[in-house]
Amino acid sequence: MTPTSPLRNAQHFDVIVIGAGAAGLMCAATAGYRGRRVLVVDHANKAGKKILMSGGGRCNFTNLNSTPANFLSDNPHFCISALKRYTPQHFLELVERHGIEHVEKAAGQLFCRDSSKDILNLLLTECDWAGAEVRLKTEVRAVEEAGDGYRLDTSGGTLACESLVVACGGLSIPTLGASGFGYDLARQFGLEVLPTRAGLVPFTLQPDLKEQLAPLSGVSCPVEVTCNGMSFREPMLVTHRGLSGPSMLQISSFWRPGDPLSINLLPGHAVQQELFALRKEQPQGTLAKYLNQQLPKRFAQAFNDLQGWQGPLQGYKNQALEAAADTLQHCTIKPSGTEGYRTAEVTLGGVDTRQLSSKTMAVSDRPNLFFIGEVVDVTGHLGGHNFQWAWASGVAAGNVV
Ligand code: FDA
Repeated sequence: MTPTSPLRNAQHFDVIVIGAGAAGLMCAATAGYRGRRVLVVDHANKAGKKILMSGGGRCNFTNLNSTPANFLSDNPHFCISALKRYTPQHFLELVERHGIEHVEKAAGQLFCRDSSKDILNLLLTECDWAGAEVRLKTEVRAVEEAGDGYRLDTSGGTLACESLVVACGGLSIPTLGASGFGYDLARQFGLEVLPTRAGLVPFTLQPDLKEQLAPLSGVSCPVEVTCNGMSFREPMLVTHRGLSGPSMLQISSFWRPGDPLSINLLPGHAVQQELFALRKEQPQGTLAKYLNQQLPKRFAQAFNDLQGWQGPLQGYKNQALEAAADTLQHCTIKPSGTEGYRTAEVTLGGVDTRQLSSKTMAVSDRPNLFFIGEVVDVTGHLGGHNFQWAWASGVAAGNVV
């Protein structure tokens, strides 16, 4: 570096990571352990705000059954390499090394037993042990190429680095620090950014439908929801705003405006046959009683009232029972929209992975510029897959930056 270099007043690092979230901190610790001088900058006043909020405060930090099939991307094979090299078991070993108690809720979904804080503390401790510095309240205003690396104009002065890692996350939940800065940087360096939209997000309903479903508000019910060829069998929650719960969040990532959702309230049942048999065995039985035996009581009652099903089963002709079975197993609802980035857990789309190395996350024609985590067009299903992507992509980059 000559004294006339534009970088002479800058603070130098081997690696600068923009974003102290899950991916950025994991990458920083990995690079730090390799002896690289690493700085993580974040404009927020706290690192890892989404980690703290995640999993209802208990952080669903991985999923033991995570496979590439649990991810959406325009380039579906891209995520395979990183996920294969850093598996849920690797992260679990790290969690156990830090003595963090964990519980498996649904199959494979691992949560902290006590608090999400444990995962954030793990990451900050790893950064500390690896000698990676985390600098908060530092907004990156601009980035430009300088010499063989990059110069960053930040609210805390000028910084310079050899390798730059963009780990700014997506657009979901702006109040937690989300910004489109990562996408802006990608475009600045000539990368394609695929259209973004909110994912893992509750649905909103038209006012008349919302009013009809109001008696079901607050009730959760296990369902199978289908849209655009994808199905999820998980609980649905009716809320005062619309439809939520794991099944709805999952399918929202596959839903496009205008699409109907087909909801099976009794998955695993042959409802038509069951109703025909019941009419024969208990002609005085009712649809309400049948529903009460299969669904949460409040839901069963409210749904029955909504349909106006009355009287004994013997009064129902075949066609009427077929129609009732169809309503229960193919209930069609057209959401008016979603709650959007305000409450979405993730952002779909983002930096096109075709321009990145699947082994290192480096930009194809810029070996010292990296994109990791949610800013990239790789989005997991609900259930710990998104953090697994953050860890895996963070480690992939951290091993080479
Ligand atoms: P992340 O968003 O975590 O971090 C990006 C960082 O960049 C932020 O700290 C931000 O402040 C910073 N930043 C942005 N712009 C910047 C700029 N211009 N300058 C400096 N810094 C900037 N996943 C899962 O697997 N299990 C779970 O239980 C949950 N639960 C969950 C709950 C809620 C409420 C949400 C919103 C999300 C989840 N998720 C989840 C998803 C998960 O949180 C998400 O996929 C990861 O946090 C993504 O990690 P990243 O590091 O890529 O981005």
